[in-house]
Amino acid sequence: MKGIILAGGAGTRLYPMTLVMAKQLQPIYDKPMIYYPLSFLMAGGIRDILIITTPNDLKHFQSLLGDGAHLGIQLSYKTQPSPDGLPDAFILGEEFIGDDDICLILGDNLFHGDNQFFIQALKDHNEKKDQIKARVFAYNVADPRAYGVIEFDKKNHSVKSIEEKPEIPKSQYVLPGIYIFDSSVSTRSKKLLPSKRRETEIVDLILTYKEENSLGVSTINPGVVWLDTGTPKSLLHASSYIETIEERQGLKVACIEEVAFRMGFINLVQLKQIIEKIPKSLYREYLEKLSMTLE
Ligand code: TTP
Repeated sequence: MKGIILAGGAGTRLYPMTLVMAKQLQPIYDKPMIYYPLSFLMAGGIRDILIITTPNDLKHFQSLLGDGAHLGIQLSYKTQPSPDGLPDAFILGEEFIGDDDICLILGDNLFHGDNQFFIQALKDHNEKKDQIKARVFAYNVADPRAYGVIEFDKKNHSVKSIEEKPEIPKSQYVLPGIYIFDSSVSTRSKKLLPSKRRETEIVDLILTYKEENSLGVSTINPGVVWLDTGTPKSLLHASSYIETIEERQGLKVACIEEVAFRMGFINLVQLKQIIEKIPKSLYREYLEKLSMTLE
């Protein structure tokens, strides 16, 4: 399984903050937003990741994360000239995907809590490949109207319908910004037509799998927190949430170096080499303390 982080877009709702810096580089409390989706993929065991961003922001992402070698992962980059829709990721990423399965996560999505739902979904995808070629997730929210809303078939817990931003939602379950597809996703994406808002829609892409009865769905339990961070208020809420958790536990959420170590992508010597390059900061102190407990 490879991963794509979609970190382009216009970020208009965060204007003027996004005038010179991408949304996914804005801070969520004590680290750039992209650390959250990146560490999430890493914690799922995904090590080959394509980051898609705007031509303007490419250099910023590259100087932040490089080629990923220091984290024991492989990062590559591609630019999206204009925000033409989420399925664009699979056209731009066609060569990267090759014959592999792909997990797309949106660069402004933050998951926190037990990631077992993701590990299980990856396992299910692997085991049921002949039958299920795409998998979406379902998350219960208070107000589903801003999202793709999933209606379940009550008999067999399959997807009955998905509607993008409906006025009258058929359920409280929505699609968070994480999806798993097989390699046919690139060909399918090329056939999509833009919607009224002049973008191709991921829901249309997902429905091509549903029509073939090859769509799976995994419900995310409410113990997992999912936040998106596209507006000033949701950005603030996400920062407060992370600050609260980190202060209470004395642990960092989405510390990519820690995740790389815990996943066995790097060893203690490599972790210490990273720490040596970090300037004096709370982030460095945290990793120093961690490395001492590991000796
Ligand atoms: P959105 O939040 O829907 O769009 P946006 O980031 O452009 O923000 P705004 O609505 O405020 O203008 O996008 C969700 C995520 O997907 C976000 O991380 C940006 C990314 N994205 C792309 O990279 N390319 C695209 O073509 C689109 C539509 C989104």
